[in-house]
Amino acid sequence: MGIGATAGVAAVGGIALSAQASSDSSSGSAGAAGSLAFDPDGFSKLTTTVTDTAGTEHNVTYHFWKAITYVANPVDETYQSLIVSAPVEIDGTAVDPTDAPILLANSIGGYMPSSVADATEVGGGGSAMGGGAAPSGAAPSSSTSAAPNANANSNTNATGGATASNQLLALAAGYVVIEPGARGRTLKNSDGEYYGTAPAAIVDLKAAVRYIKANKGLIPGDVDKIVSAGTSAGGALSSLLGASGDSPIYEKYLKELGAADASDAIFAVGAWCPITDLEHADGAYEWNWGANDLSTGKQVDQTVSKQLKAQFAEYQAGLKLRGLDGFGPLNARNYDDYLVEQYLQPSATTYLAALSDADRATYLAANTFITWSAGKATFGWDDFLTHVGARKKDTPAFDAFDLSAGENNEFGAGTTENRHFTAFGAKNDTTGLSSRRVAADIPEKLNLMNPMYHLVEKVNDRRSKHWWIRLGTSDSDTSHVISANLAARLDNLGDDVNHLYYWDQGHGANTDPGDFITWIADVTSFGKEKGADKKGKRN
Ligand code: DHB
Repeated sequence: MGIGATAGVAAVGGIALSAQASSDSSSGSAGAAGSLAFDPDGFSKLTTTVTDTAGTEHNVTYHFWKAITYVANPVDETYQSLIVSAPVEIDGTAVDPTDAPILLANSIGGYMPSSVADATEVGGGGSAMGGGAAPSGAAPSSSTSAAPNANANSNTNATGGATASNQLLALAAGYVVIEPGARGRTLKNSDGEYYGTAPAAIVDLKAAVRYIKANKGLIPGDVDKIVSAGTSAGGALSSLLGASGDSPIYEKYLKELGAADASDAIFAVGAWCPITDLEHADGAYEWNWGANDLSTGKQVDQTVSKQLKAQFAEYQAGLKLRGLDGFGPLNARNYDDYLVEQYLQPSATTYLAALSDADRATYLAANTFITWSAGKATFGWDDFLTHVGARKKDTPAFDAFDLSAGENNEFGAGTTENRHFTAFGAKNDTTGLSSRRVAADIPEKLNLMNPMYHLVEKVNDRRSKHWWIRLGTSDSDTSHVISANLAARLDNLGDDVNHLYYWDQGHGANTDPGDFITWIADVTSFGKEKGADKKGKRN
């Protein structure tokens, strides 16, 4: 349950959703789900109070379906199930959720397992990572810049402030909220085999989407307006879900699970600090944070850092991306200017403009690297890096030579817990492996896990066309380039991209959840526009 919300059971279910019942009989598609048919009557009636971002309380009555297994042949139902919450009354007025957008909010953090099996109310998802915990095996968690609420609600849709979660705000706006669980990297069966490593989590999320779509007319909400939301690993998977809609490369995995026979394309994506493009993330990390010390005050191995940085330059050149707003071709030499101009200065400007004159003066006195003139903040990249301070991860940040990173586990397979997934990591292995190459299945696994594969190598026309991407300027869990490349590629493909940075915020921040909820109404054309706050809108 997010901050600012209280919940109580008003009555227990069995009451038919009248609006759905009629849409069900008119759609005629209910049979498509077969054994995976959604039971429209299987809900409890709950109430909750949601405090919106303006501080106004809303009383919401909603129908709640507890954990439903979304595949016919589950490997582990604890994770392969979802919960559904559909508002039916808001502040005393009846609402009909039949045509409302569906917020598909995952709780995945650290590529760990996440479960809604025991959830009893909206927002009930949880990752095995637990609130505030660092992903196991991640590099030293030493960031001083993490937002206080990073990983709140198990890393899903963390608000970074005293407002309700995305799920609660969505419910109070009249949207349907569906929260899927998914397998994660640490799950091991009695034979010692890892069954939640790549690509399990994305296959599960796709199976959840197929379940929803197969139940069109039975399940509340407009199944053609699914908006995925997630943070960090959950943001990466949200991006991947949006980029890879209906891609055939997941087919065999979905078939094996007995996923419903339906599309897995979604309408829009919300991604907070997505930890993605993993096979290129080590190079991008050194390009970004290479000169920053660790929290111990020590520098990382500069030879390794420089080698990785060179890899980034080559990768970036090959992407042939153009920056937003006419910046021109992006490369390793101008990306610092691009980030400063396109994201960082505007972020600082927004932050400073919102302060009182006295608070702004205090902030500027403490941060003399910023020039404040004519209502605009300006500064250079090097000063920005100094301002952020200690980097969170040692080098390489993702494919650790000693296989200690969470991502090494994400690419584990069979009874092998941790594996290398880059040629550089494998070549420099320090664990005594006999082979200095990545395993034969790794290239395929990387494609299955990377949204860039679906946007660059195989341009997927079934992808989402609306993208909300957010990142804290002080977040050094990955390189700032990762989100910026995703945004640039999507923009270059012609998609609607709304990407902003939160000034001085760390990993997991979500300081404009109300704007996200308004954005969903805008892009899905749902109802009347709620509120006129267009701050940060780019397209
Ligand atoms: C997450 C954070 C990381 O630093 C990482 O490498 C992977 C995932 C997370 O918070 O989900």
